[in-house]
Amino acid sequence: MTSQAAGATASGAPLRVLVARAVFPQHIERVSEYFTVDYHDSDDPLSAPQLRERLADKHGALITGSERIDATLLAGASELRAIASISVGYNHVDLPACSSHRVVVTNTPDVLTETTADLGWALMMAAARRLSESERWLRAGHWRRWSLDQMLGHDVHGSTIGIFGMGRIGQAIARRAQGFSMRVIYHNRSRLAPEIENECAARYVSRRELLETADHLVLVVPYSPSVHHMIGAAELALMKRSATITNIARGGLIDEVALCDALRRGVIAAAGLDVFEGEPKILPGLLELPNVALTPHIGSASYATRDAMAHLAIDNLVAALSGQVPPCLLNPEALAF
Ligand code: 8YV
Repeated sequence: MTSQAAGATASGAPLRVLVARAVFPQHIERVSEYFTVDYHDSDDPLSAPQLRERLADKHGALITGSERIDATLLAGASELRAIASISVGYNHVDLPACSSHRVVVTNTPDVLTETTADLGWALMMAAARRLSESERWLRAGHWRRWSLDQMLGHDVHGSTIGIFGMGRIGQAIARRAQGFSMRVIYHNRSRLAPEIENECAARYVSRRELLETADHLVLVVPYSPSVHHMIGAAELALMKRSATITNIARGGLIDEVALCDALRRGVIAAAGLDVFEGEPKILPGLLELPNVALTPHIGSASYATRDAMAHLAIDNLVAALSGQVPPCLLNPEALAF
């Protein structure tokens, strides 16, 4: 696509876009080929009032999961036509509000599936085999001798993995489980087609059976208010005492106070968490517990994947502002006028 393809203002000037967070040099170079760019070249997110101010005269924006797009912001951005998020999750964007303002919203699915599944796997292994705890203990100088019962964890191979949310990432995790001779059970809003179940060697179970049967439970459910704290004290109590829970989706899925309590009392064995309800703030109780592996929302964090995500978001932005249907359109309703 050439810069002309991305549309222009009435006076023939290029359209104006906000790039709301620091991106790689090649990304800003590419966006600048098409648009007049207002670049917030920083890893510190703009505050809501700053974002409102910077979007007031823009036609489009490249954002990340940290920028909240809501009705108040849209009310002050009369020229806005497209929001391209560098993320697969879009719970930070009020889709109905965007549609009613005729703002097209896009995300970046697929390109991060395998990288995020890798991280989920790593965290599950870390929780089950006490990797973070072992390393902290070793670094603190506690290792004096080998012993038969040192840092005993729970096997991953040959166990039952329970996948909550069987979308693209959940399926990629299921495919990995075959290499570890695991039984795969899953629960999802809707049951998968038989050919996908076969390919993933996965068995659909009820929510309760998933919680009761899984040795290693992995959460890959897209966040929405309806699944807020879907894992709380009652759900944790259904799990095996030897079980682990891994969350690579959104922090709000788990009641972290209940999780801390369960980990402290041995209701479950361990947790692996990449996402947190108040991130980047972490509940102090979680930091104090030995049996939890913590990572700072790095599910998609490989160079190749972050690069691909940003390029896909730019493809979406350029298409949307050229009057084309962008490849990852989330709200076709916005075009239905
Ligand atoms: C991103 C994510 O790193 O894509 C998502 O939904 O959670 C992560 O891959 C993050 O949202 C940055 O936008």
